[in-house]
Amino acid sequence: MRSKGELEGKIGGCFIKDPSLGLLRMLYVLISFVLGVVVGLISSSHIEQYFSSHAEAIYTNRAFVALGGTFDRCEVEDCLSMESFLQPKYAMHGMSDEELFWRASMVPQMAEYPYKKVPKVAFMFLTRGPLPLMPLWERFFHGQSEKQFSIYVHALPGYELNVTNTSVFYKRQISSKWRSGVEQGPSVEQMGSGGDDSGGIARCGGGGFVGLMVEMVPHMASFLKLAEDLGLLVHADLTNVEWGSVSLADAERRLLANALLDFSNERFVLLSESCIPVYNFQTVYKYLIGSVHNFAESYDDPGRYGRGRYSHRMQPDIMLSDWRKGSQWFELNRTLAIKIVSDTKYYTIFRKYCTPDCYPDEHYIPTYIHMFYGPLNANRTVTYVDWSMWGPHPATFGEAKITKEFIQSIRINKTQCMYNFKNTTICYLFARKFAPDALAPLLNLSSTLMGF
Ligand SMILES: *[C@@H]1O[C@H](CO)[C@@H](O)[C@H](O)[C@H]1NC(C)=O
Ligand SMILES: *[C@@H]1O[C@H](CO)[C@@H](O)[C@H](O)[C@H]1NC(C)=O
Ligand SMILES: *[C@@H]1O[C@H](CO)[C@@H](O)[C@H](O)[C@H]1NC(C)=O
Ligand SMILES: *[C@@H]1O[C@H](CO)[C@@H](O)[C@H](O)[C@H]1NC(C)=O
Ligand SMILES: *[C@@H]1O[C@H](CO)[C@@H](O)[C@H](O)[C@H]1NC(C)=O
Ligand SMILES: *[C@@H]1O[C@H](CO)[C@@H](O)[C@H](O)[C@H]1NC(C)=O
Ligand SMILES: *[C@@H]1O[C@H](CO)[C@@H](O)[C@H](O)[C@H]1NC(C)=O
Repeated sequence: MRSKGELEGKIGGCFIKDPSLGLLRMLYVLISFVLGVVVGLISSSHIEQYFSSHAEAIYTNRAFVALGGTFDRCEVEDCLSMESFLQPKYAMHGMSDEELFWRASMVPQMAEYPYKKVPKVAFMFLTRGPLPLMPLWERFFHGQSEKQFSIYVHALPGYELNVTNTSVFYKRQISSKWRSGVEQGPSVEQMGSGGDDSGGIARCGGGGFVGLMVEMVPHMASFLKLAEDLGLLVHADLTNVEWGSVSLADAERRLLANALLDFSNERFVLLSESCIPVYNFQTVYKYLIGSVHNFAESYDDPGRYGRGRYSHRMQPDIMLSDWRKGSQWFELNRTLAIKIVSDTKYYTIFRKYCTPDCYPDEHYIPTYIHMFYGPLNANRTVTYVDWSMWGPHPATFGEAKITKEFIQSIRINKTQCMYNFKNTTICYLFARKFAPDALAPLLNLSSTLMGF
């Protein structure tokens, strides 16, 4: 109390003692106060700058160390941009199947889009290795707007599609089956391939553990590859996708899920390395985009290769009367594609009981569609195939078989098909199976006969 009074008296005394001197002092105090404020302001902004720049350095350093440099590049690319959300730039990404399927199942609840949406057709190639007929496809897509189509390639793990950057297939390969040991990352071969500027892996969101390791230690990929070649690492999942097994049906669903990430994809067509287009792009595009039906073959085969593959353990969820068969080469709309990637119940039943000598890729989609989405299914495929040889495999057409008449008979079929409830002579848009040596004569015919 007392000290406070003393202080007040002193200060008060200062001003009262000599009025003129007080005025001078007041001016002095005022000037130094203003000066102080100015200096303070300047220095504080400097300090702020200094600290923030340091903080940034520390932050980016840490991000760089932790994420192997992916994070700051990501910021430059604006990961939350509408563009990267709506149409991912690269087909490769770092999501696990579980994450991918969940993302693919998203459906906007608003009917209107905040951008001009041009519907796209997703061409999904399911292949073991190379695409020998790629030059024909390149010609098919040549000059077409990228706003109308997108391409996805699913090859066997370890196979890397090698195309130049001018190709429509450039960077269109998706992650195939991931190794079991490291669930969170694409195969090392694929992660390793992302070394160039365009980045094979998704930069935004970051890859999995292996991906980070590969980015930080450039030789890790080759080290792991070597270890694997030497048999030091054993990964059950790195063995081949068994054609006709569940993993083939897995590959189809994975392709669908990847293609669903692009919100403009409205129709989804599954193709193989031996498939060719028999009409030009615009005809195919109009046919598929304009169709009210899905094209998935689905029929009841009472024989041993049909009903004979049904397991009674699928009851009561899937009854024998629900069981259908059909070619795996489907063409679906977006709504149905989302239903298929979101289905875990029926797919799990197939995984459990459609084995062995039961081929999920020939039964899962035909049965599932028949059970829930039958009315708008055309029950036919748009991919021609010749089973007339009655073997376990359809006919393969080589160089000798390729004539104008043959291709024309696929294009215009005398047996009429239904399209949007009307008859049409165009039953098939694609055809299989064509051998690699059929390429030259097909390229010869494409402009005169097929219109591309
Ligand atoms: C990719 O193809 C080019 C030319 O066709 C070739 O030089 C290159 O070695 C190939 N790369 C791989 C990884 O196969
Ligand atoms: C494509 O690759 C060539 C070299 O192979 C390069 O000169 C060119 O800039 C690349 N183009 C694009 C668009 O990346
Ligand atoms: C296809 O089969 C379903 C039954 O699964 C049926 O409802 C539908 O009408 C058939 N579609 C056509 C075009 O006949
Ligand atoms: C897609 O196919 C499903 C199943 O047949 C149907 O219910 C749906 O209306 C179709 N959607 C569009 C947009 O055509
Ligand atoms: C026409 O289509 C029918 C039914 O899809 C098929 O059985 C037949 O082989 C086709 N004909 C030709 C010449 O391709
Ligand atoms: C449509 O085709 C069927 C046979 O596939 C035929 O019976 C029918 O008359 C055709 N309809 C028209 C309007 O041509
Ligand atoms: C291309 O077609 C022409 C005539 O249409 C034929 O003379 C020529 O042999 C064909 N070439 C090939 C490689 O099939």
